[in-house]
Amino acid sequence: MIKKAVIPAAGYGTRSLPITKVIPKEMFPICGKPAIHYVVEEAVASGIEEILIIISRTKNLIMDYFDHSLELEAFLERVNKTHLLKKTEVPNVSIQYVRQSHAKGLGDAISLAKSFTGEDPFAVLLPDDIFLGTPALSELIEVYNKSRANVIAVKEVAEQHLKDYGVIKGKQTSEGIYEISDLVEKPASNPPSNLAVTGRYIFTKNIYEKLNKLNPGKGGEIQLTDAIKDILTEERCLARISSGERFDIGKEEEYIKLIQAIYRT
Ligand code: G1P
Repeated sequence: MIKKAVIPAAGYGTRSLPITKVIPKEMFPICGKPAIHYVVEEAVASGIEEILIIISRTKNLIMDYFDHSLELEAFLERVNKTHLLKKTEVPNVSIQYVRQSHAKGLGDAISLAKSFTGEDPFAVLLPDDIFLGTPALSELIEVYNKSRANVIAVKEVAEQHLKDYGVIKGKQTSEGIYEISDLVEKPASNPPSNLAVTGRYIFTKNIYEKLNKLNPGKGGEIQLTDAIKDILTEERCLARISSGERFDIGKEEEYIKLIQAIYRT
């Protein structure tokens, strides 16, 4: 059973500068809630009971948001605005935090979750990617429960955008499911398919051993994609096309489309 999830939220958010100098991308407002609230909701809707958020020095707002605001709650009671208490609620799930001291990449951030996840298989949710519709993580958990393999969410992406993603090479084994044989992080040319990795993963504990052996890869960072490539020599890794709609909040036009889509519902 997948009960633990890791949310890496330690990056600088360079694509969204200058606002990310002071506001973490994970706290960008989406119809009154920060982006990471939706990601935590997706995890909870998928059956996750414990979450570890990897933060960095400038991300204390994330901890403040998920904490109780006792002063605010007392104030609302005092001024007879208890109907607003509901608006201060956050998803009911255990959340812990760990700090990444150097921005050494996504792979390095995930490696900090080792003692939290222990022997258990676990989920990873990248908070840039927000899904509407069926929770993408629940679809991965379904595949994991049948296969006991590592599982990655993918989406078909137009050729010109594949250079922004990890791209898989794989063979379809059933409707929407692929057996991965290779992955390339942000291919500059000749992407191996049109299936891009979209920020939801399930890993066995063996991913840590691979992460720990890695040298810096693309962009001088410890790349999660490289550890997945390495695990393929010993374990299966499946890809599942997500049925929900995906938005990358690091891209301004998708951030706006996401707000419009939620606003309409
Ligand atoms: C990361 C992963 C990449 C994946 C992407 C999805 O890249 O390294 O494989 O396709 O997330 O959002 P980033 O966008 O953090 O550079």
